[in-house]
Amino acid sequence: MEVADFGEFPKDSVMPKSNNDDDTQNLPGFEDTSMPSFETEFVLHHQDCIAGMREHVADDSVDLVVTSPPYNLGIAYGTYKDNKTSEDYLEWTREWAAEVKRVLKPEGSLFLNIGAAPSNPWMPHEVALQLRDLLFLQNTIHWIKSISVHEKSTPDEPISVGHFKPINSKRFVNDCHEFVFHFTKSGKVPVDRIAAGVPYADKSNIKRWAHTGGRDKRCRGNAWYIPYDTITSRKGERPHPATFPIKLATQCLILHGADPSETTMLEPFLGIGHAAMAAGKHDVAKFIGFEIDDDYMAEAVKRTGGGQGA
Ligand SMILES: C[S@@+](CC[C@H](N)C(=O)[O-])C[C@H]1O[C@@H](n2cnc3c(N)ncnc32)[C@H](O)[C@@H]1O
Repeated sequence: MEVADFGEFPKDSVMPKSNNDDDTQNLPGFEDTSMPSFETEFVLHHQDCIAGMREHVADDSVDLVVTSPPYNLGIAYGTYKDNKTSEDYLEWTREWAAEVKRVLKPEGSLFLNIGAAPSNPWMPHEVALQLRDLLFLQNTIHWIKSISVHEKSTPDEPISVGHFKPINSKRFVNDCHEFVFHFTKSGKVPVDRIAAGVPYADKSNIKRWAHTGGRDKRCRGNAWYIPYDTITSRKGERPHPATFPIKLATQCLILHGADPSETTMLEPFLGIGHAAMAAGKHDVAKFIGFEIDDDYMAEAVKRTGGGQGA
């Protein structure tokens, strides 16, 4: 696929299977698209999120926000125009982030997913800086969409996994990751590193380190390999130009760590509802979403079986 030198689109792409080098092997079972449970109360508002949060969401009432706003990179959304001036975009970022801060409980977490374009590499950092005097940046997570590794079984030849949008450029390498900035109100909010963790590769570490308590699980760190599922038709399978995988939201939910049955989760930029599906899958008590686009909203309602709010 031909992509301009400036590599403008940061998120997923639709590629036919076995198209080229970039349609790399995907690992099975990463994307869980099964229907969410009906334990979750979905309150989905077809409304601007700033006005909506002001109207519907009380101060200090939300435990967890997992969100991905538009990146201002000219993506062709249905309704939203993704081409504000940089100044306007950053001011708007501050405005919605201030609302998120208002509604977040003292022990709450905001996981903010944002990517860049090679021609605009400072943008995720500029967005994060808008939140600097509102919230503490507690963790910086790298969402890895594709990676090439040397395995023991293939010592001479790296294997590549995952998907990314190829950039046709003489100066930029392909962009295979995005950021997930974890913001909290104090910078001291405990997270469940072990629930979100992985088994030890070298089991002798379980005995060697006292802090394991005999458990075969360690913190997985801040590089999360979460590939998109391979799709062959965006319209039929993922009708939105810029989504994150359900599993990314799930991982944030697990790291946040609180009892899901007592958790209220919010996604101000709902899209087609991937954060909502993660919430449903994990029996989160209440999920609140806002989306301005008719079609994305309808898709989110369909996918969650969620009741539409006001
Ligand atoms: C990056 S996408 C989010 C995709 C979502 N995470 C998913 O996986 O489906 C951003 C979404 O925000 C929506 N949006 C833009 N401005 C909005 C606003 N002021 N209030 C609510 N939604 C908005 C866009 O229509 C778009 O669907």
